[in-house]
Amino acid sequence: MKRMILVTVLGFSGAVLAEGGMLQESCAACHNIKGPATQTLKAAFEKKGPALFYAGNKYRQEWLVSWLQKPSRIRPAGMYYGGHIKPGPKGDEIDTSTLTDHIALSKADATSVAAELMKLKPHNDLIAKEKIESGTISKQMGEMAFNKFLGCMACHLIEPEYGGVSGPELYTAAKRLQPQYIVSFIRSPQAWEPKSMMPNKNLSEVNIQKMVHYLETLSKEATNGH
Ligand code: HEC
Ligand code: HEC
Repeated sequence: MKRMILVTVLGFSGAVLAEGGMLQESCAACHNIKGPATQTLKAAFEKKGPALFYAGNKYRQEWLVSWLQKPSRIRPAGMYYGGHIKPGPKGDEIDTSTLTDHIALSKADATSVAAELMKLKPHNDLIAKEKIESGTISKQMGEMAFNKFLGCMACHLIEPEYGGVSGPELYTAAKRLQPQYIVSFIRSPQAWEPKSMMPNKNLSEVNIQKMVHYLETLSKEATNGH
């Protein structure tokens, strides 16, 4: 009798897992894969990983496939940098001993989970509003704007170990992210993440496009294996 019940329970949960797929099974413990976005500061500080429920509006599929097989660190001080810094001789330092490595997937799993992720597109409306104007900017001019005029460098690395550490690194951003997402996020971080630490600096259209071109320049130069 006891055994019958056990078999029934297992049969049921097995079916549920199969239906949820790999994302549900292996990723949902740390990533928000269903939405909505985090609505409170407390929840934002407690996040175990970035939201993935709008992954199809955000990432480049080929980057997902490759990063998931060989993940490299994107947020130098983890999800909430306050939890991973310690005082050092030159000021606060990242306590890397408290950071863990991301799970790596086989090529087959990375390919199928990336395909699952690319189907998640709740923000087609935000993406459709944006267009990328063609143009280029030198690394020097771009950095001047990024650092001095727009104050982005306080939170973002533009080279490994050069820049701020509370946000994601941006030297591989153009390889990682769709250009319309970059434009839209810079225009209004809170449209994507209502509790984002990134301030809306109300950049002009010219400056937004400049930043996209700058991030493209940076990614072309990034030679660290991404
Ligand atoms: C133990 C928690 C944990 C699990 C489980 C986990 N992740 Fe992550 N994931 C993280 C953290 C933390 C980051 C941020 C890493 C960084 O910034 O360097 C991350 C980053 C990512 C990123 C890059 C996102 C970005 O915008 O920077 C992707 C894509 C991703 N994870 C996909 C997955 C997938 C797919 C799975 C399941 C197969 C998974 N993760 C399982 C914690 C986790
Ligand atoms: C106070 C810190 C801070 C400042 C200043 C800041 N950002 Fe951010 N930025 C963040 C954080 C944190 C994120 C990650 C998204 C989140 O957690 O809401 C982010 C995300 C981004 C992203 C998307 C990256 C990704 O992987 O999703 C881009 C692009 C970006 N910022 C560009 C800029 C630009 C350009 C400026 C200057 C105009 C700037 N940021 C200023 C903190 C900052």
